[in-house]
Amino acid sequence: MPPRSLSNVPLPDQSAIEAVRISCSELPAGSTLLAERFYQNLFKMAPDLRSMFAENLHPQHKRMADALLQVVHYLDAPDDLAHQLRVLGAQHRREYGVEPRHYPYVGRALIRAVSEISPTWSSSMSSSWVLVYEWITANMLAGAEEPDQRVSGAGRGRARPARSYR
Ligand code: HEM
Repeated sequence: MPPRSLSNVPLPDQSAIEAVRISCSELPAGSTLLAERFYQNLFKMAPDLRSMFAENLHPQHKRMADALLQVVHYLDAPDDLAHQLRVLGAQHRREYGVEPRHYPYVGRALIRAVSEISPTWSSSMSSSWVLVYEWITANMLAGAEEPDQRVSGAGRGRARPARSYR
């Protein structure tokens, strides 16, 4: 199923946000295990995506998975977060050639990776992650469809704080 557009995806409610946070709080701090599992799952599910990434995954090994964990951290400030996700989505389309059809693979690979290493994984964590990831995807894709998201905050009233999700 193709990702749904932003107007059809609600902001995850507080219980979903909490469930996702609990699943992450149990991950071993500073571990590269999540990123390793994530990439293993992704390239197993969709081997053709491997060529989109640098040959040596290490320099940015953790970036994508860490970025997602940071997103989870900022879900309480959805306006700022939505703006950052739009910028990230535009960058993904422009610099990495990411298309809407790629997002479900990344979501499945990530959620599976968290489930593999979270000691108390539950079905409600799983459905909460699906909701959160859908919202992230919808915002990134909304940004990818906008003409140019390069200048952070331009034409949007107040400037947003520069926040890195790496
Ligand atoms: C939840 C969604 C995602 C988040 C939070 C995310 C986050 C990130 C971040 C933070 C970076 C590093 C950017 C930089 O260095 O400036 C990155 C790079 C990248 N992402 Fe994503 N990403 C997401 C989804 C995707 C999807 C769906 C794809 C499609 C396969 C993808 C493919 C890539 C690629 C190819 C790179 C560059 C890697 C390299 O140079 O080796 N990402 N992503």
